[in-house]
Amino acid sequence: MTADVITIFPRLIEAGLEAGVIGRARERGIVDLRVRDLRDYTDDRHRTVDDVPYGGGPGMVMKPEPIFRAVEAIAAERGPASAVILMTPQGRTLTQGLARELSRLERLVIICGRYEGVDERVAEALVTSEISIGDYVLTGGELPALVLLDAVTRLVPGVVGDAASVDADSFDGGLLDCPHYTRPAVFRGLAVPDVLLSGNHGEIERWRRRQRLLRTMARRPDLLARAELSADERRALEQGELEREAEALAAKPRAAAAGAVEIEKKRREP
Ligand code: ADE
Repeated sequence: MTADVITIFPRLIEAGLEAGVIGRARERGIVDLRVRDLRDYTDDRHRTVDDVPYGGGPGMVMKPEPIFRAVEAIAAERGPASAVILMTPQGRTLTQGLARELSRLERLVIICGRYEGVDERVAEALVTSEISIGDYVLTGGELPALVLLDAVTRLVPGVVGDAASVDADSFDGGLLDCPHYTRPAVFRGLAVPDVLLSGNHGEIERWRRRQRLLRTMARRPDLLARAELSADERRALEQGELEREAEALAAKPRAAAAGAVEIEKKRREP
């Protein structure tokens, strides 16, 4: 997979792509991620990328010409893009499913918006998908582009050494992940569940699956409608067999730091 990120803050993107799993995947040549400075595609002395909005109003709008030039230059160099993505809060919300779809594409081009917005003709005539990372507004598309690239790159075969660890993640099969523990077995009076110390792998797998179900019920019941469940699990769910345990989990008190405010009381949707 290749990805080219068009931005006015190339160092910000570079820094985000250097470290960890993604950095190693780049070094090993599994993915080819490049950063393009939008100002390199301007044609005036001041390397201007924005202008005042038609119709008036606050802020500046990103000009179409440098963005078109950048995307066309990338296509000439790399071949036509499989997707031209604009990061914007107006886009389709990024999900694990969308990340998986994108991870199967060969050539991504990602445009980071800034200022009040991007000239609409970019969305109309250049962009194939507008993507948001959630219902909140950031100062620009750079952090969203890094989020997108991180989520997508780790799904490219060979990037994460242990493929099983990618498959067991939260959202795989539409469920949240189970709790994880490491040594010591008792820490400040908090014990690791016995089953994990039992060495009984069948039991451990059953416990983990049940925890994923319970967590999803307690925290994100909206996910259950589309989750991949066995007939037995679906039946147990419909008959309310896990309901009480999930409610107990949802009501379980969390750590309260001195003076901390409880931000979100109600976790379960009505
Ligand atoms: N640019 C600003 N906010 C954004 C968001 N939530 N998602 C994608 N791009 C953005």
